[in-house]
Amino acid sequence: MKGLLMAGGTGSRLAPMTKVVSKHLLPVYDKPMIYYPLTTLMLCGVREILIICNSRDTADYQALLGDGSLWGCAFSYAVQDGAGGIAEAYRIGEAFVRDETSALILGDNIFYGDRLGSVFADAVSLNRGATIFAHHVNRPEDYGVVEFDSDKNILSIEEKPTNPRSNWAVTGLYVYDAEVVDIVRGLQRSDRGELEVTDINRAYLERGRLNLKRIGRGYAWLDAGTPDGLLEASEFVRTVERRQGYRIACPEEVAYQMGYIDADALGRLAREHGSSAYGNYLLNVIAEV
Ligand code: G1P
Repeated sequence: MKGLLMAGGTGSRLAPMTKVVSKHLLPVYDKPMIYYPLTTLMLCGVREILIICNSRDTADYQALLGDGSLWGCAFSYAVQDGAGGIAEAYRIGEAFVRDETSALILGDNIFYGDRLGSVFADAVSLNRGATIFAHHVNRPEDYGVVEFDSDKNILSIEEKPTNPRSNWAVTGLYVYDAEVVDIVRGLQRSDRGELEVTDINRAYLERGRLNLKRIGRGYAWLDAGTPDGLLEASEFVRTVERRQGYRIACPEEVAYQMGYIDADALGRLAREHGSSAYGNYLLNVIAEV
């Protein structure tokens, strides 16, 4: 399966923090924001990942993440300048996806929960077509919102509705079969000039090929796209990490636990961080397993 990670956009809701720095490089507690969605893809078993960002920021992402080989992955880069919308990923990444299933994740989405990678992978392996993940939120009007019938079948999906028909928001992780490329070719831009991911999901819904998995209350889904969201995500990560002694979204650790790299490789990565807390943490990962 291929992965597409959306790290573009203007980051206007985080201005002026984003005036010279890409939103997805801002820190969420102790790591760059992009580490969180990136490790979510890695935990789902996705290792070939196209990172889509502004031309201004491409060199920064390459400096941070490289070609992925140190983490047993393959990262490549593509440019999206301006606000073309999330669905534009499949015009930009058409040659990358080719005829494969792909997972698309938004660069400001943080997922947390035990065995989340397997929850995602199981949901995907059961289905053909598209799989989306919904989470119960307090402010559904900020998101894509799912409406269900009494048998929990999906009736509709609305983008940021004024009067939401449920509290179930569509999270920023989507899995599509190869048909997505054709669907996106046929999409029209919305009133705000964007190719909307909700329109992709509606197209699958109309074809009877949209599957939905609810991510229940035992999981956390956070969106770090606003100043409050960014701070709340940092506070969440800090609280859990300080209590447990585990780090959330540590790519070196995830690569090791997923079997993408061995203990020797992890040791080398740890030593590159010298005697920092991060380096020591990685050494402990090897010692503990
Ligand atoms: C986007 C999608 C929305 C989804 C949300 C998840 O909104 O359009 O359907 O619920 O991501 O984070 P945005 O955050 O780009 O406004």
